Amino acid sequence: MNPTSIGTDLHEALNRLLTERFTCRQFRPDPVAATTIERLLRLAQRTPSWCNTQPWHLHITEGAATERLRTELLAHVQSHPASPDFPFPAQYTGAYRQRRRECGLQLYGSLGIAKGDQERTLRQLLRNFELFDAPHVAIITTEADLGVYGAVDCGLYINSFLLAAQSLGVAAAPQAALATYSDFLRDHFDIPDNRRVVAGISFGYPDHDHPVNAFRTTREELENVVTWHTA
Ligand SMILES: Cc1cc2nc3c(=O)[nH]c(=O)nc-3n(C[C@H](O)[C@H](O)[C@H](O)COP(=O)(O)O)c2cc1C
Repeated sequence: MNPTSIGTDLHEALNRLLTERFTCRQFRPDPVAATTIERLLRLAQRTPSWCNTQPWHLHITEGAATERLRTELLAHVQSHPASPDFPFPAQYTGAYRQRRRECGLQLYGSLGIAKGDQERTLRQLLRNFELFDAPHVAIITTEADLGVYGAVDCGLYINSFLLAAQSLGVAAAPQAALATYSDFLRDHFDIPDNRRVVAGISFGYPDHDHPVNAFRTTREELENVVTWHTA
């Protein structure tokens, strides 16, 4: 194999991973083998971070631990206020509002939930806390002292995790929604005070027959996200 074809294979592999990955919102119950999860984690561990600090730490559940979290988190959400460790977006305006609206319409449209149907919208929102029936979840925390850049490093880690999962045929759903209840997760997993909950990732095998997994989101044109400077 000459260097050019190696490059082509690599490019094609990455292209496929990036374009075929999607946020899975309905999982089959089958667990992922521990050896596969470990392979996934070893790949994701190659994520770059500022000063190679690798600030991420994961709490991963399987079996009865996933079921207990699912039950207890859902009960908590329905009777407690939000308490995220990191402030959630203050508002979505302009293009961000538009893109958010489009993916919301796709999600609720895939399920036949009409705009304004508050009951079914809320029910679908709560699916986040049922982990979309996934057999596993990973809760990602960062070190408080590393501030915004620690969270940035964890964001990179999350993407590595998603792509590593995709490369192994495992589907995943990154979920900031889970960080809404950081205080609950801190108690549940005995997370120390110096850690901040960034997000969760539910993962397992996708239910391809479920309509919620049938839509694919779009991406903005390059001209709207890049400003070129040439002189
Ligand atoms: C950091 C992060 C947090 C997210 N949180 C949620 C969430 O709480 N619930 C959810 O259903 N999707 C969540 N998503 C999925 C996004 O909605 C999804 O990535 C986006 O719409 C693009 O679609 P795609 O992942 O299918 O390409 C999150 C994604 C990221 C990267």
